Amino acid sequence: MNLKVIGAALIAFLTFAVTPSYANETTDPRASTGGAQTLDDILARQKGLEVDDSFRRENLGRPENAQPTSGALGSLGGTSDSDIYRGIRYAEVDIKVSNSSHASEILVQDGGMNWLLTREQDIRGYAGFGIGGVLVALVAFYFIRGRMTIEGGPSGQTIERFKAFERFGHWCLAGSFIMLAITGLLLLFGRAILIPIFGHQANALIANFSIWVHNNIAWVFMFSLVAIFVMWVKHNIPNKLDWEWLKEGGGIIGNGHPHAKKFNAGQKIIFWMTIVLGASVSLSGLSLLFPFEMPMFAKTFGIMNAVLGTSFPEVLLPHEEMQYAHIWHAIVAITMIIAIIAHIYIGSVGMEGAFDAMGTGQVDLEWARQHHDLWVEEEQAKANSSPSSGQPIGQAGK
Ligand code: HEM
Repeated sequence: MNLKVIGAALIAFLTFAVTPSYANETTDPRASTGGAQTLDDILARQKGLEVDDSFRRENLGRPENAQPTSGALGSLGGTSDSDIYRGIRYAEVDIKVSNSSHASEILVQDGGMNWLLTREQDIRGYAGFGIGGVLVALVAFYFIRGRMTIEGGPSGQTIERFKAFERFGHWCLAGSFIMLAITGLLLLFGRAILIPIFGHQANALIANFSIWVHNNIAWVFMFSLVAIFVMWVKHNIPNKLDWEWLKEGGGIIGNGHPHAKKFNAGQKIIFWMTIVLGASVSLSGLSLLFPFEMPMFAKTFGIMNAVLGTSFPEVLLPHEEMQYAHIWHAIVAITMIIAIIAHIYIGSVGMEGAFDAMGTGQVDLEWARQHHDLWVEEEQAKANSSPSSGQPIGQAGK
């Protein structure tokens, strides 16, 4: 035999023989599992990475493979049980249920695990570190800066800062918010903290009571939020003075007393934060209170995508809507709790004379001059221009 031919055959044989077997596989990475998930897919999903699931979502059986009805395997046609369950999981099959609600047509929902992990890990972590962090920061601030006092001491004269109905509105909002915050946190941390300490039964009792309080007190919060908005919005429109106030650190950092009207820039930030986040937490709360009745995320995402060019999903299953509402409700509520803890500090121990504004409604005139000088001038001018309305200044303790 020709030596050249033998050599070529030998090279071809060796090349074939030493080439690893995987090099012969097709480029389909799931060929080894017959098109099912691989270990890599499962690990990627557990790490929360994006996995293209079209190989499952679109793998819903092939009618053309159906056995003839006379054959042994003819009954399921070209679709196996796993094809059917994959279809149910990805909401790709047409399901008819006797209950007429769209939500009950979703027999399996794929996002539940993601929602659970986000709630148990990210949301609990944010709440724990955020609330713990602000408490530590405020204690540190108290020891570094000390209590903000009235320079030169109280004058002994007072001026009316808030009327009874304003204080009533504030305390309805504050009381309901504090109850919502406590019961919300009990629900969030119940499994992680209460069950290990007090057991399942105690947690079940606490959780039942918390959800009842949460669902009912929410109405007080929503009504007082509207009342607070109506009462104080006109004093909270931002203006140039606020910028000056912020540049001077509001007198909180340093010892200055920047000019301010009824509400300074810091208070305006608290006001708008309360209104905007309060509205958002209320809407997402209503969506949770009336399950599947008030879907709002797909529409919101649609608007965001159009305006901001983002690419959030615009079609959501009813359960996905609920999951988004729940996660968003928790994020907004925790952000509010963190900010309100700082507000409570300033309104009580952090600043001498501040609590009286919401306590009796009368603040010391010197306190008012130092923190809201232009408002005091306005009030005195009003009293002077209409003597019938009486003097705004009184004596402390009377
Ligand atoms: C024990 C808790 C609280 C205390 C001691 C407290 C105290 C005060 C005080 C003293 C003021 C009037 C400040 C001034 O004279 O200008 C005030 C105003 C206000 N509070 Fe509270 N508050 C509490 C809880 C809350 C809560 C929970 C919210 C909202 C969820 C809230 C929202 C507001 C708003 C929007 C204002 C007007 C803007 C401002 O002054 O920052 N408060 N609060």
